[in-house]
Amino acid sequence: MTVSPSPPAGASRKVHVKTYGCQMNVYDSGRMIDALAPAGFGGAETAEEADLVILNTCHIREKAAEKIYSELGRLNVLQRERAAEGRRLMIVVAGCVAQAEGMELARRASNVDVVVGPQSYHRLPDLIARAAASPPGRPARLVDTDFPVESKFDLLPEEATPRGPAAFLSVQEGCDKFCSFCVVPYTRGAEYSRPAADVLAEARRLAAGGTVELTLLGQNVNAFHGDGPDGRSWSLGRLIRALAEIDGVQRLRYTTSHPLELDDELIAAHRDVPALMPFLHLPVQSGSDTILAAMNRRHTAAHYRDIVARLRRAVPDLALSSDFIVGFPGETEADFAATLDLVRQVGFAQAYSFKFSPRPGTPAAEMTDITVPEPVKAERLARLQALVGEQQAGFNRATIGRTMPVLLERPGRRPGQLAGRSPYMQAVHVEAPLTLQGRIAAVTIESAATLSVTGRLSEAPSRAA
Ligand code: SAH
Ligand code: SF4
Ligand code: F3S
Repeated sequence: MTVSPSPPAGASRKVHVKTYGCQMNVYDSGRMIDALAPAGFGGAETAEEADLVILNTCHIREKAAEKIYSELGRLNVLQRERAAEGRRLMIVVAGCVAQAEGMELARRASNVDVVVGPQSYHRLPDLIARAAASPPGRPARLVDTDFPVESKFDLLPEEATPRGPAAFLSVQEGCDKFCSFCVVPYTRGAEYSRPAADVLAEARRLAAGGTVELTLLGQNVNAFHGDGPDGRSWSLGRLIRALAEIDGVQRLRYTTSHPLELDDELIAAHRDVPALMPFLHLPVQSGSDTILAAMNRRHTAAHYRDIVARLRRAVPDLALSSDFIVGFPGETEADFAATLDLVRQVGFAQAYSFKFSPRPGTPAAEMTDITVPEPVKAERLARLQALVGEQQAGFNRATIGRTMPVLLERPGRRPGQLAGRSPYMQAVHVEAPLTLQGRIAAVTIESAATLSVTGRLSEAPSRAA
């Protein structure tokens, strides 16, 4: 994904940001651009037009991390062409690969000017100014992967550009859960919640700029426990109630949640707050208690089913999504069958599944004596994806004939079409005039595929149900 703001008045240099990984990286990319605007950087659509390229990277699986090195190779060609013209292309590697590999990355990729971890983005303008002082052709290779005591959220400037009808808002960062397969606690650091007043202020600014839907972000978003303006600690449920009262905020979502942190206050918010959309991404990873224990998830499959039952009592039409890892070390056919059973019982509107990828430094990467062979992983992934695909297609088909409020975010695939999201996160395509872009319109669903539905504009708006 590419983030490209319009250049601030007087911008003399251009920055191109390429974003990999999760929504938190998308949000961070926007904040990095905000941080660079006062230093005179405007946006560039492509690396070819840019003076500075930032790769905002992801370390979650091996493939994600390796992509960065091939991208750096491509950029090196561009850098050499630039150098031949006597100009310079600076490269920053940010995000989770930067944090995880730090110095090693700077050594392996000699064309990188700055390596900066996710908690140090407020220092980016200074790092770039220092890197620019080194002679052309000799990248400075500055590395900043501290977990500073100060919070970047307090020090980054406010948003410089409107974020569009649907925007991300990070409320929490980091993770203390240490699932045995996962790099996030190492790349993002300890759990931190922003003060509620800061989140509310940012939400008000976004709403004033035309944003109608906010997705609250955190690696463990429902572990949110920010200081409230009343001097108490606020839970995510409390925060959602306050956000729903902001003028212009019509829809709220949050991601990603951990089953252990889904408390009564959050379930009550799902029941009581109409702006909180009836969709929840709640990763379970496996349906086998043996595997869940080995993953250090600290919940069982029964616990997950129980949370789902409680949520569905509060919101009967709640659509669920999840993440699954197949081929975790030691996963037997019986363990995998338990995952399929859980999927069949719960019923998902969508889900993401991944083959286990051993990540350096994580406990699961050491479990090499019980590795699941690659063909077995691939075969299990295919079976799980087929089942989830059937469920998703079924969910989409069941909405045919229903009229739902759809936020029309952007132009659709075909001319005359707009594309957006239903309350249940379905991708919706509809013939609609461009004047409706950024608005919530009532759409009657007419046909369904596995990944999207198509509808027509309707006169009679209705809520989700
Ligand atoms: N914070 C979220 C998810 C973070 S990463 C949570 O707690 O669920 C997003 C997804 O990537 C995870 O849910 C998991 O399914 C997958 N993932 C993480 N590490 C992985 C690994 N080593 N191999 C394969 N998939 C992984
Ligand atoms: Fe990773 Fe587990 Fe934390 Fe999610 S809860 S970010 S999977 S360690
Ligand atoms: Fe990837 Fe880091 Fe997000 S590892 S998934 S970019 S938190």
